[in-house]
Amino acid sequence: MSEALGNALVTGAGRGIGRGIALALAQKGFDLVVNDVDRSSELDETVALIRETGREAVAVRADIADVAGHEAFVEAAWRAFGGLHCLVNNAGISVAKRDDILTVTPESFDRLMDVNLRGPFFLTQTIAKRMLAAPQDRFRSIITISSINAGFVAVDRAEYCLSKTGLAMMSKIYAVRLAEAGINCYEVQPGIIRTDMTAVVRERYDRLFETGRVPIARWGETEDVGHAVAMLASGALRYSTGETLHVDGGLAIGRL
Ligand code: NAI
Repeated sequence: MSEALGNALVTGAGRGIGRGIALALAQKGFDLVVNDVDRSSELDETVALIRETGREAVAVRADIADVAGHEAFVEAAWRAFGGLHCLVNNAGISVAKRDDILTVTPESFDRLMDVNLRGPFFLTQTIAKRMLAAPQDRFRSIITISSINAGFVAVDRAEYCLSKTGLAMMSKIYAVRLAEAGINCYEVQPGIIRTDMTAVVRERYDRLFETGRVPIARWGETEDVGHAVAMLASGALRYSTGETLHVDGGLAIGRL
């Protein structure tokens, strides 16, 4: 096996966009630490698919919302290949029930924030400290998957939108803090991607493509996001940090 381009950790890589990112990074030449929750039965399949590309993969199961468990989680991820050059904050959840902002409960709000914002914030902090203490032998990056909902309002998913807006700012703050150490931070905003998360609203989104709302009139696929992340992780944009990349078929372009 040729020498790896670097070692990357992808959270929520058991399925969906996280798996697409992990596979694209492997194709680019990264060895992978892939994470998902304990109950994920699909994570082993992600590992097998990565190995088929000829790269190495190790699974580390952990709940990213469990901040007290981050030290042990990161220690296991770091030890897998003796260091990490890339973190992809991908794991995230949608609202338990799409409903009016006027009926959002504190429980639903806290659950969303714990997984989508508090978890990635402290996981990034833990990994950034390790990266800062390690020698810089390769290009290093922290890539955060937010959503088009960082800017687009969804009245029936208020707490989701808020968590993603928070991630967008988080990525910029870490970009400024970590630039002098040569750690570039990027935010990726996917649009409408075909995964289990969007399966519940498939027909509604089908109509958006049919009515011309999205300039590239098709569902985004997980590999569309994967290739974008792999490009960022490769260092192709090494003089850019704190940037946001839309992977949305042009959905975010303002139109009159
Ligand atoms: P998905 O639901 O298909 O997959 C998410 C994966 O993350 C699952 O394997 C799940 O077990 C894992 N996960 C959930 N909570 C976790 C936790 N606490 N700790 C560790 N792993 C956890 O979702 P999808 O569609 O692949 O989304 C991935 C990311 O992309 C999410 O952050 C989502 O908000 C974001 N996104 C998705 C879009 C879409 O259209 N599907 C659009 C924009 C953003």
